[in-house]
Amino acid sequence: MEKFAIANDGIDPNAVPKRTLHTGAEIPAIGLGTFGSDRFTGSQVAEAVKGAISVGYRHIDCASVYGNEKLIGQALAEVIVGGIKREELWITSKLWNDMHGDGDVLVSCQKSLDDLQLDYLDLFLIHWPFPNFHAPGCDVDSRSPDAKPYIHENFMKTWRQMEALVEKGLVRHIGTSNMTAPKLKLLLQDAKIQPACNEMEQHPHFQQQELFDFCKSNNIQQIGFCPIGSPTRPDRDKTESDTVDIQDPAVLAAATRLNVHPAVICVKWAVQRGQIPIPFSVFRNEYLGNLQSTVQDPLTDEEMQALAGIDKNCRLIKGQVFLWKDDQSWEDLWDLSGEITPA
Ligand SMILES: NC(=O)c1ccc[n+]([C@@H]2O[C@H](COP(=O)([O-])OP(=O)(O)OC[C@H]3O[C@@H](n4cnc5c(N)ncnc54)[C@H](OP(=O)(O)O)[C@@H]3O)[C@@H](O)[C@H]2O)c1
Repeated sequence: MEKFAIANDGIDPNAVPKRTLHTGAEIPAIGLGTFGSDRFTGSQVAEAVKGAISVGYRHIDCASVYGNEKLIGQALAEVIVGGIKREELWITSKLWNDMHGDGDVLVSCQKSLDDLQLDYLDLFLIHWPFPNFHAPGCDVDSRSPDAKPYIHENFMKTWRQMEALVEKGLVRHIGTSNMTAPKLKLLLQDAKIQPACNEMEQHPHFQQQELFDFCKSNNIQQIGFCPIGSPTRPDRDKTESDTVDIQDPAVLAAATRLNVHPAVICVKWAVQRGQIPIPFSVFRNEYLGNLQSTVQDPLTDEEMQALAGIDKNCRLIKGQVFLWKDDQSWEDLWDLSGEITPA
């Protein structure tokens, strides 16, 4: 087997910034997203995982619902046989919404482990706080007749199983995704094992400053998805009022100064602000550029300030398919009043 070498134009993984979690473990401050959506096949995404590791990425953000963990597992096996040590990698996976039930968490985690050809995950997240199945790629108007609101008691049953995974040594850290501060407050109160991370939508036009501050003050590391504003997301995830981060004058001004694509500015902003962006791309020049951005040419204080000022509260992944009643709007999923939206 050929030795897996870092490309000449790659970045030394030791130089990539890290964040320290509540356990003391270090996680790379940028990861590669792997949701190929409708545009890229599992093989293309798996090839990108190998390519990304060859240019110096060590953090890969996976999920069972992305439907490509088996192919990514083959890619990971190749790089590990090629000489990259398992402990150098940070691999995240996520529990999908139809696996919250009693006993299902272990089944789901084991399936991800088998598919990814690993014997432990660095991080396992509950993908959404709602136990509601909908078919991948379904329309945003589609509703499950079994959809349920957030019920903390049920969520804690799932969390207890997540904790059991840590106790069994199958996962090193557990966390949440798409959670709000009111839901996290309850979890922090009742958890035996604290969530290490919360994965949430974060880009310059959707900064979620309140949730950002809440997570920071509670030692929950934030992982930011759609860090570039997911410019090529499927049409079903677009609405007329959505804004485009990579066309914002403040982003463009910094991109012009540094002679980089505006996407790179979004990634830089995320890393300098403190969340961990997980930009997706299957194109080498793009994922390499995103990684380089973490070690080269930081944004100035003035640029960081200008970017702090362009928040448009523009949530792109609204989650409509999780609504549990007919007369609701997607805002109900996000506890905007500061309390969990009543059932
Ligand atoms: N936890 C959750 O619920 C959740 C939800 C959504 C996403 N995620 C995770 O977050 C990851 C990222 O989200 P995302 O893919 O929706 O959005 P994104 O990373 O904001 O945007 C990805 C797109 O940006 C473009 N891009 C990336 N790097 C670029 C560069 N250097 N220059 C120019 N264009 C660049 C690419 O477009 P082209 O392909 O056209 O080049 C790529 O498809 C996903 O893959 C997934 O792992 C998690």
